[in-house]
Amino acid sequence: MNNYADFFRRSIDDRDAFWGEQAQLVDWKKPYDRVCNYDNPPFAKWFEGGLTNLCHNAVDRHLATRADQNALIFVSTETNVERTYTFRELHAEVQRMAAVLQAQGVTKGDRVLIYMPMIPEAAFAMLACVRIGAIHSVVFGGFASVSLASRIEDCAPVAIVSADAGSRGGKVVPYKGLLDEAINLSSHKPARVVMVDRGLAPMSTVARRDVDYATEAAKVQNAQVPCEWVDATHPSYILYTSGTTGKPKGVQRDTGGYTVALAASMKHIYMGEPGETYFSTSDIGWVVGHSYIIYGPLIGGMATIMYEGLPIRPDAGIWWSLVEKYKVSVMFSAPTAARVLKKYDPEYLTKYDLSSLKALFLAGEPLDEPTAKWISGALGKPIIDNYWQTETGWPILGIANGVETKASKFGSPGVPMYGYNVRLINEANGEELTTPNEKGVVAVQGPLPPGCMQTVWQDDKRFVSTYWTGSGANMMYSTFDWGIKDADGYYFILGRTDDVINVAGHRLGTREIEESISSHPNVAEVAVVGVADQLKGQVAMAFAVVKDASLVTDDAAARKLEGEIMKLVDDQLGAVARPARVRFVTVLPKTRSGKLLRRAIQAVCEGRDAGDLTTMDDPAALQQIKDQVAV
Ligand code: PRX
Repeated sequence: MNNYADFFRRSIDDRDAFWGEQAQLVDWKKPYDRVCNYDNPPFAKWFEGGLTNLCHNAVDRHLATRADQNALIFVSTETNVERTYTFRELHAEVQRMAAVLQAQGVTKGDRVLIYMPMIPEAAFAMLACVRIGAIHSVVFGGFASVSLASRIEDCAPVAIVSADAGSRGGKVVPYKGLLDEAINLSSHKPARVVMVDRGLAPMSTVARRDVDYATEAAKVQNAQVPCEWVDATHPSYILYTSGTTGKPKGVQRDTGGYTVALAASMKHIYMGEPGETYFSTSDIGWVVGHSYIIYGPLIGGMATIMYEGLPIRPDAGIWWSLVEKYKVSVMFSAPTAARVLKKYDPEYLTKYDLSSLKALFLAGEPLDEPTAKWISGALGKPIIDNYWQTETGWPILGIANGVETKASKFGSPGVPMYGYNVRLINEANGEELTTPNEKGVVAVQGPLPPGCMQTVWQDDKRFVSTYWTGSGANMMYSTFDWGIKDADGYYFILGRTDDVINVAGHRLGTREIEESISSHPNVAEVAVVGVADQLKGQVAMAFAVVKDASLVTDDAAARKLEGEIMKLVDDQLGAVARPARVRFVTVLPKTRSGKLLRRAIQAVCEGRDAGDLTTMDDPAALQQIKDQVAV
């Protein structure tokens, strides 16, 4: 079949036959009984009755044909380490890690939290967990103790795997203190903490809880740990993401559906062939890292590059030198990275032999046209935008060139990917919009295809109430994104409908940042909004009301308090969540019923019209924000 329209239609109209074919791309220990059980909407059980294992499909399956081919290529420009692991070596490392986890008491269904920098042991830990049926929850290394504590509390891990430190731009970022603090804050205490010591930062050890990975691994040098065959619906991992409330949601992923979805996407969307090299510049702490640094490429029999460092250090040519050296065929990054590179001479990209590269995929935030044109011109390669979410695990909108070559349109991530019955919904009445170029909420009619979230970890109710509307077979999943569809069926994404902001491709909840700032003893109230930024897409901007106005009577005093608040956010959530500015006002714009008018604040910050303000309690409040922004 080479007609995408037919391919797509079949994925919706003849769903089970379609996905049954895709399921042939992976190994099953026992075949499934049913492709999709959607008897209880919106809960979809994909490949029910089947037994499989994610690690088997990512690693063991390739031993027969490509044991001595590179599987994992680790490059750190932070510590100047470069190491490759063949599938055979990766297999041994993963078994060693699995044996260490088992020795710490980890068994099937237990949660293991992974708080790691971008080092091979992080990949070993993820693969080791799914190998033994344990459920991993990777927490981004840039998050600090309060973010980490809420995740420990929610997923109650038996063990945590971590490292002494990460490194960013040559600066060591110690992890252990943050981890100990997070465990202190959490009412759940993990039985064991496995520490990888990179020799970057000193660590204190908690007796009977902390163990050294190298010491434990040496005891199980030649460990043989077979894959635990799990039900297709067995959870493989939990990945927390931000939403409307301050409490992050644990996105729970299955095993069988995810394996099939990734295998299919490697073929139809990314077009990576076994034996080639995939380079995703994301971090394992984000969904792109899960799907397209670790699982997708390995399931596809590709070598995957794990890169620790910045795109411009030692110079802006570093990524492209890796493309040349390892003959990267598929590359995946975020628009922010392209905007960073745009500041440099295109010579940094072109001086390397990029002939192996087929395409550069960009996702995670809107791709602006000037950036897309610049990078496409500099590389002379197709630039392919794709749109998806932590919740979905793989693209919702994109271009499936592996099925049929289709033109991209600047500013659009493309058309609905097979399996996603995408609709545009009128926010007010829930009705479908059918006229081209009308703005609505991007939604997907259930069931979500394989690979998408099963539920919110231990909170089915929250899953249903947060994401779904309607009833029965008509239930509709909301992406919380605004969008339009043009007359050719291409979608354009216009930003979030909720309080989620996107800073340099990192998804953050403004409510979490507000909660953190509110914990400062001198802050009475605060509003955080996302404001458009040339480089990062958006930045967080905070407006706080202080308890004691005498603290901010002059500029120097305000700057001092602003510095304190920023440090507080750094310490609690991580520098990634730090607002670009904290400004002080005496009152925040609210409705008469007391709801913060975040959208009006955001509009004012971006120099736009604040819209309908008839419900506003005190018009002077918005004027204060205007005055502050004008300074
Ligand atoms: O608002 C959309 C934006 O990022 C959100 C999802 O972020 P996250 O859960 O971190 O998953 C990223 C997976 C790539 C979306 O709700 N977003 C993602 N991709 C795009 C995008 N906005 C515009 N264009 C995109 N290609």
